[in-house]
Amino acid sequence: MKLNITCIPGDGIGPEIIAEAKKALDAVAEKYGHDVQYTDILMGGASIDVHGVPLTDEAVETAKSADAVLMGSIGGDTTTSPWYKLPPNLRPEAGLLAIRKALNLFANLRPAVLYGELAQACPLKQEISGNGFDMLIMRELTGGLYFGERKTVEENGVRKALDTLTYDENEIRRIAVKGFDIARKRRKKVTSVDKANVLDSSRLWRAVVEEVAKDYPDVMLEHMLVDNCAMQLVKDPAQFDVILTENMFGDILSDEASMVTGSIGMLASASLNDTKFGLYEPSHGSAPDIAGKDLANPIATILSASMMLRYSFDLDREADAIDGAVKQVLQDGYRTGDIMSEGCEKVGCKRMGDLIVERIK
Ligand code: IPM
Ligand code: MG
Repeated sequence: MKLNITCIPGDGIGPEIIAEAKKALDAVAEKYGHDVQYTDILMGGASIDVHGVPLTDEAVETAKSADAVLMGSIGGDTTTSPWYKLPPNLRPEAGLLAIRKALNLFANLRPAVLYGELAQACPLKQEISGNGFDMLIMRELTGGLYFGERKTVEENGVRKALDTLTYDENEIRRIAVKGFDIARKRRKKVTSVDKANVLDSSRLWRAVVEEVAKDYPDVMLEHMLVDNCAMQLVKDPAQFDVILTENMFGDILSDEASMVTGSIGMLASASLNDTKFGLYEPSHGSAPDIAGKDLANPIATILSASMMLRYSFDLDREADAIDGAVKQVLQDGYRTGDIMSEGCEKVGCKRMGDLIVERIK
């Protein structure tokens, strides 16, 4: 099969982790006889440095012509990097928001899994994490507060800023359908998270999710307020299967969920539209403090490449080969610094990539 992939190495540790993910993809392609073609595009700070903007129209066109996009990470240190002296619409993050919108990637899947081999890294008490947990956050990605009208004005000498949170029923319905579809392939439970005790957008969210649920009688639906959900994630994470929520709540809760796994360097994510097309990226950020030092953990990006094979190309066997190699490398006792524990061998980004490649072959 021919796989035409656009890569966005991006900023910080992005180029290092993308290099390792390409190695893993190449190994899989060689083993199973596929032809992978990569085209790199610039986004975020890397694009600002060259073009003065965080994403060009040409880059968007290249991404659109691919079968899928694999991204590293974007952004820099917000207090020291010159990128953050630019107006907000020209900063690195604006590139990410723009590509999500341009490619209509409304469904963001963020799995948060406690890996048995890394259980010591989980910051929760053993009595809470003991039985493990495996949840998937389904975050709406192209609506709500992050895409509503915003402005800062001055009225009678007083500065005032405004952000608007809007959802129409179609935007809610399509993400809810994705959430229930995925739940059907998992443990058949959806927790829809909102703030329906205060917000109109949440009350509409809840009503539309109820309507969609009627088509999925085999899936259990519960509603939870977002503040309670933040608490439940540290109190009893095992209760969750699919968490379905709007853009900002999903942004915040997915960081919390990844932290409770203790291994954010392991977590992949997928952003999907209505077709097989998707953008795949690690759940973690660009870690500018360790960039270029061969210290980053490439596993989340390698697992993102595996998600890409599974969701965009239906290559389950190939995805299994990557997932299996990652599991094996952990069982064999190799760790990058972020997941290091006593008795294991500490390795850098490149060596971790090589060890995974060896286990794919
Ligand atoms: C994420 C990030 C982005 C977001 C930022 C960088 C705009 O935090 O992917 O979660 O808020 O969506
Ligand atoms: Mg975030």
